[in-house]
Amino acid sequence: MLSIEKYQEKFIEFLQEYAVIKEPKSLYEPIQYILNLGGKRLRPVLTLMTAEVFNCDYKMALNAALSVEVFHNFSLVHDDIMDDAPLRRGQKTVHEKWDMNTGILSGDAMLIMAYQLFENYDQITFKSLAQLFSKTALEVCEGQQYDVDFEIRDDVTIAEYLKMIEYKTAVLVGAAMKMGAIVAEASENDRHHIYEFGKNLGIAFQLQDDYLDAFGDPKTFGKQVGGDIIENKKTYLYLKAIEFSNKHDALQLQHLFSIIPSNPEEKIQKTKQIFTTSGATEATKQEIKKFTNKAFSVLDALDISDDKKLILKQFGEQLMNRTV
Ligand code: IPE
Ligand code: IPE
Ligand code: MG
Ligand code: MG
Ligand code: MG
Repeated sequence: MLSIEKYQEKFIEFLQEYAVIKEPKSLYEPIQYILNLGGKRLRPVLTLMTAEVFNCDYKMALNAALSVEVFHNFSLVHDDIMDDAPLRRGQKTVHEKWDMNTGILSGDAMLIMAYQLFENYDQITFKSLAQLFSKTALEVCEGQQYDVDFEIRDDVTIAEYLKMIEYKTAVLVGAAMKMGAIVAEASENDRHHIYEFGKNLGIAFQLQDDYLDAFGDPKTFGKQVGGDIIENKKTYLYLKAIEFSNKHDALQLQHLFSIIPSNPEEKIQKTKQIFTTSGATEATKQEIKKFTNKAFSVLDALDISDDKKLILKQFGEQLMNRTV
């Protein structure tokens, strides 16, 4: 197996061959823009790594890895419209740089391109990949709709929140890994367990994303810090803060999340303070650990060598400690 950095490098080489600007430029330029903005390349690296974990050359999995990354970037373009986000990976979001219509259509095209990449596989693999992809992509839409619906609800439960992040984020991490296993023709049992590993890691990943959205360093995070607070997102931080706070703070928080603030910066500061004093920040960190460990416990069921399990574990640990 190669190092994570090597998989990233090999993936980016492959991406660069794929990413050429065609006519009409106004459709394809934004696609190349977002695909070349960088990012951690977490999902494609997981696809490549998983193929090798199951004894298949990573090169066989490059098209599947690219499909996952193109889909992920499509979801970001549309997500940034939905979240009214100005920044992505430290640069302007597509709808800010161009306009909303450009974001919608370039995003649609990327979703189709993601499917099209499966045409590089034989019939049996194609069918398995397409089935998994369709199921996952629909779940992502469901998760995204819950996320938006929750903005105007004040009775969201932790269970609902966890379901929402499982759908909007975690299933794609699971699917990225399962695609590697499909290309490698791994057993049904292994395909299932690697999906569960990725899904639990994905839940921890989104919890961490919510944490960083409030407490990340604006210089390195690459997104607008406090964006979730401005948009009234019912994150784990928020839900736990309501649960743990005294009546006064809980009411203040609920009030802050029900109005359009005249001073967003003040809303962000007040909210972050309650997140921390209530113990919600600490509880979120614990929950990130809990889901990371849950992912690790799935590794036992996999029919792979211990050194490969260790590589997957190290990857999970790195994710838990990320700052971007
Ligand atoms: C951002 O994903 C969207 C979430 C699911 C939190 P990443 O944090 O993987 O974004 P990039 O691709 O590295 O920019
Ligand atoms: C992203 O959730 C989920 C998808 C893009 C499907 P977020 O809205 O939290 O992602 P960021 O924070 O904008 O990257
Ligand atoms: Mg967003
Ligand atoms: Mg969102
Ligand atoms: Mg976020």
